[in-house]
Amino acid sequence: MNDPVRAWHRLADGSVLLDGFHALKHAVRFQARVPVAVTTDRRAALALADELAPDVRETLDALLAEVPEETLKALVPRPHPTAVAALAVRPSRAANLEALARTPRSAPVVVLDNPRNLGNAGAVIRLAAGFGATGVVTTGTLDPWHPTVVRGGAGLHFATAVERLTVDELPPGPVFALDPEGDDIRGLKLPDDAVLAFGSERTGLSAELRARTDHLVALPMRPQVSSYNLATSVAMTLFHWSATGGAPA
Ligand SMILES: C[S@@+](CC[C@H](N)C(=O)[O-])C[C@H]1O[C@@H](n2cnc3c(N)ncnc32)[C@H](O)[C@@H]1O
Repeated sequence: MNDPVRAWHRLADGSVLLDGFHALKHAVRFQARVPVAVTTDRRAALALADELAPDVRETLDALLAEVPEETLKALVPRPHPTAVAALAVRPSRAANLEALARTPRSAPVVVLDNPRNLGNAGAVIRLAAGFGATGVVTTGTLDPWHPTVVRGGAGLHFATAVERLTVDELPPGPVFALDPEGDDIRGLKLPDDAVLAFGSERTGLSAELRARTDHLVALPMRPQVSSYNLATSVAMTLFHWSATGGAPA
């Protein structure tokens, strides 16, 4: 096998860091290209695979190179408790844009309009992967492939199409924007080709997004409560879509 440390240094810039066993497991399951993966304890990592992910055990066996603890610390500042780290190739923007634009669509696209919190974005990508959403689009300055977002997404960026776009570039489909002032979601069926849009943690939906909105939709909430957390709102909305006919693959 080639020297994993040299490979790591050659590839680190521009690759996606998979931090921990679970991120690597998910990335492999969803066909990410993983040119280098390291651990301080191959036996322990493969035992985890036997226990939790026998479907990817063989691939991990071929991929994982054992390195000393000091080496892992030099590659990854705060190694994950599973002592596994890997680099994956980021999917091409062109391929993601094609997936987002493809019609007819069998599952919604989630749009986060100018999100601010990297942890929220990661949690939303994990939800989108779980529900089989077509993709997650962010508007604004947050990079949805930021390492903290990837960590929050547990390697599931590879299970859906994740890109940053402007409001003008949003994929086709009716826009259902979530806002406490909208119509109660319980009276609605969200179509599979919906574009489900959520506002910023600080300021809610932008004027541009509101201008593109076809339906304003509210989640049930007592009057004294101002709003739900962003990722929680996405969870309830995707669950509503799945419970009213849409279904994870
Ligand atoms: C933390 S909230 C934004 C709060 C912000 N201060 C505001 O002025 O709207 C983030 C996003 O979650 C969604 N959201 C939160 N609570 C909601 C509710 N009860 N109904 C519909 N959407 C909700 C909306 O899309 C909202 O823009």
